[in-house]
Amino acid sequence: MKIAFFDSGMGGLTVLNEAMNQLPNEEFLYFADTLHVPYGTKSKEEVSSFVKQSVERIVKEDVKALVIACNTATSIAVSDLRAYYDFPIIGMEPAVKPAIEMNRSTGKRVLVLATPLTLKQTKYHELVSRIDDQSIVDSLPLPELVRYCEELNFEDATMIDYFKSKFAAFDINLYGTVVLGCTHYPFYKEILKKILPEDIHIVDGSAGTVKRLIQLLSPSNQLKDSGESTIKFMCSDDNQDYIEKMKFALNLLQTKR
Ligand code: SIN
Repeated sequence: MKIAFFDSGMGGLTVLNEAMNQLPNEEFLYFADTLHVPYGTKSKEEVSSFVKQSVERIVKEDVKALVIACNTATSIAVSDLRAYYDFPIIGMEPAVKPAIEMNRSTGKRVLVLATPLTLKQTKYHELVSRIDDQSIVDSLPLPELVRYCEELNFEDATMIDYFKSKFAAFDINLYGTVVLGCTHYPFYKEILKKILPEDIHIVDGSAGTVKRLIQLLSPSNQLKDSGESTIKFMCSDDNQDYIEKMKFALNLLQTKR
């Protein structure tokens, strides 16, 4: 049986990459909702319906767990999906908690980068108000970044200009940690390192999500300890060129390991 990963596009590959590192014998399925990417600039109702349609296709495959490898889809739909399906469903959470812990004694602030829709959700506001007891968390929506990533635009000059213009309103030296709260954003980690002060930590939620996946599957011995790892790629518009693009992007991540 397969462990399925789902995202609006290719962002979830950053989570799949982490899972492949930690679970070298699994069969994976990766599904991208290419008909509707990006999610983060659409309405809650639209995204909820897109996620349901995608998951209906995914469950036709032989699936033992589903990772919603998309922060936006998680914040909108994970509770409904868990109530409906009876296999483990793991979502993304912006790594705000570890970021706050890192800065407790430094006096520095935390900056969360995410899509506009993620930052608007009650789920995000509840998370921050539950753990940000020193009021050190700020947020910055990046509505264009998913689109750049889907275009495989990793060109230093364009992206450095883009990030500089987004950070212009912030005194970046006040920050100790930047949280990547969208699974597309880790593709830009190396570019961000070039423009952020050297001592800023850049964190994302992939490791936490994969840890939770392992916690949910290992007690019932559902994880494989032998055999070759495989990946089946699918997308909602069945576009073979996009599938090749995903393979290329995953390869980029793997060469950075
Ligand atoms: C998007 O499709 O706009 C965002 C995906 C995410 O939030 O991880």
